Amino acid sequence: MGKIVKRSSSNIALVKYWGKKDIQIPMNPSISMTLKNAYTEMSLSYKKIENSDQIELEFLFEDEANSLFADRILKFLQTIKIHVPCLNGLALKIESTNSFPHSSGIASSASSMSALALCIVALEKELTGNITGFNNELEKASFLARLGSGSAARSIYKGYTLWGKTKYLENSSDEFAVAINHKVHEVFREYGDAILIVSKKTKKVSSSVGHSLMNNHPYAVTKFNEANKNIQRLFDILASGNQMEFCELVEHEALALHAMMLTSQPSFILIEANTIALINEIKNFRESTNIPVCFTLDAGANVHLLYPYVNRPQVIDWVKNKLVEFCENNTWIDDQIELS
Ligand code: PMV
Repeated sequence: MGKIVKRSSSNIALVKYWGKKDIQIPMNPSISMTLKNAYTEMSLSYKKIENSDQIELEFLFEDEANSLFADRILKFLQTIKIHVPCLNGLALKIESTNSFPHSSGIASSASSMSALALCIVALEKELTGNITGFNNELEKASFLARLGSGSAARSIYKGYTLWGKTKYLENSSDEFAVAINHKVHEVFREYGDAILIVSKKTKKVSSSVGHSLMNNHPYAVTKFNEANKNIQRLFDILASGNQMEFCELVEHEALALHAMMLTSQPSFILIEANTIALINEIKNFRESTNIPVCFTLDAGANVHLLYPYVNRPQVIDWVKNKLVEFCENNTWIDDQIELS
């Protein structure tokens, strides 16, 4: 019998992952920042079931039983038990809470799947004394998190993270993410992310449907090639410290993601009128102040406003006095990158 508690944060991609093959193998590499304040805290209690090799699961989300999440997690555990055989014959009780409201339009799959993967790897270590098949615990946790939700692979690490094989980084892999903070200039180490909640609604089209629509997408090859080039460009920018070039690239990547949705067959639109209003506000603010703020988007209507922490007073004033008017019930989440 025992209990493990882990916390893991959400992340926001700078170069996006959109399109996959096999079991969550990305069609192109992606780079993200792991956030600090939007996290999942998970506890995993376990005990041995006599004479059984089944996995039993009780799952509580925010202190309440949730059968939808429980089914998804049990399916995930069945998929990964080949990599963690000690899961067989265990009764598990998982309790999960998020630091951000469930209905805020912020996806929790990256933080929750990475928190779960960290718990499972700690469980393996506790029960067997070691970690099989990987170089270290984080590598295995990232591999397992990926099987739950692709982008969750990146949340295992703090700060800047790369997931996906690229010739620009030797130890990169399609199967797990790696930390790249050692490649990042000082100016990028303290960044804020004001998450502007345009809509709290669950998105109309899930990420998995969006990924699958890249299979026969007319612009897919061009998009994957461009993302590969943008990985190199972002590595160069992160190393050089050029914040205006960072803005240009990050915004282009966000718009290219949504351009894929607009031109999928069938097409779908996740941005809303206020998403576009915010994008225009952010571009105008950058032009008039010369402060290198920029926007990025997830697969949804909400806008992530990225800004250097040194400019925080001016940026937060502007968020509070102007940008909140474009947010549902004036809601925004004050987050930042966490490097260590
Ligand atoms: O990890 P998934 O399957 O939820 O896909 C995430 C896709 C994006 O958030 C749009 C991009 C990314 O790289 O995180």
